[in-house]
Amino acid sequence: MTQLPTLSATEIASDRLLLRKALDIDREGLIELATDPDVRAYLGGPRPRGDVERHIDAVGAAGLTSAPGSFVIADLATNRLVGLLALDRRSADRPGHVTDGGEELELSYVLRRGAWGTGLAFEAATTLLRAAAGELPDQPVVVMTQTANLRSLRLAARLGFRQVSTFEEFGAQQALGTAGLHSFGT
Ligand SMILES: CC(C)(COP(=O)(O)OP(=O)(O)OC[C@H]1O[C@@H](n2cnc3c(N)ncnc32)[C@H](O)[C@@H]1OP(=O)(O)O)[C@@H](O)C(=O)NCCC(=O)NCCS
Repeated sequence: MTQLPTLSATEIASDRLLLRKALDIDREGLIELATDPDVRAYLGGPRPRGDVERHIDAVGAAGLTSAPGSFVIADLATNRLVGLLALDRRSADRPGHVTDGGEELELSYVLRRGAWGTGLAFEAATTLLRAAAGELPDQPVVVMTQTANLRSLRLAARLGFRQVSTFEEFGAQQALGTAGLHSFGT
């Protein structure tokens, strides 16, 4: 089956951020995101540093965001990695859908612990969704988060996602939120 499209941009700037593809300078930040127990608390726990290093060496930093709609969130002034952000497709064979065929646009976000509480995840997500709204036809966007992940639930609600159901995946209860893509347009 042909992958449905997501946005085609590879670089988008906002007031404080640059959404861009990963570079070799992101290596330490990428390792931190995968190994920090706070960041990974609701994402299956921290991964062993050695495994993460070997994976990055194998695919290259650029390989981690090579998929369309997948970005590093970087500080606009310093270019330092703040987090990762993606708008990809929710595979029909996973649980958590709002359409019969699945494959909805799915938003995901992860920020370094030191960047939480400054509105940067909100700024990055609204920038991405606004760009996607300008390029793609109106359609549902979904966001999945553990019901225990209160920070992520708050962010999803602030972005305008409405929680429509809960389901079990990875041994935890997940909340499914949805919003219309064009609700993010200007
Ligand atoms: C989920 C996650 C991205 C949320 O980050 P966040 O920083 O809380 O989200 P926001 O960018 O919306 O920031 C909101 C906070 O910034 C504060 N803030 C400060 N300056 C701000 C500004 N200029 N604009 C908006 N908010 C601002 C808000 O008051 C709020 O603070 P609070 O949490 O104390 O209420 C982050 O916790 C994370 O990376 N978690 C680990 C990964 C994860 O679980 N991802 C979910 C799976 S999809």
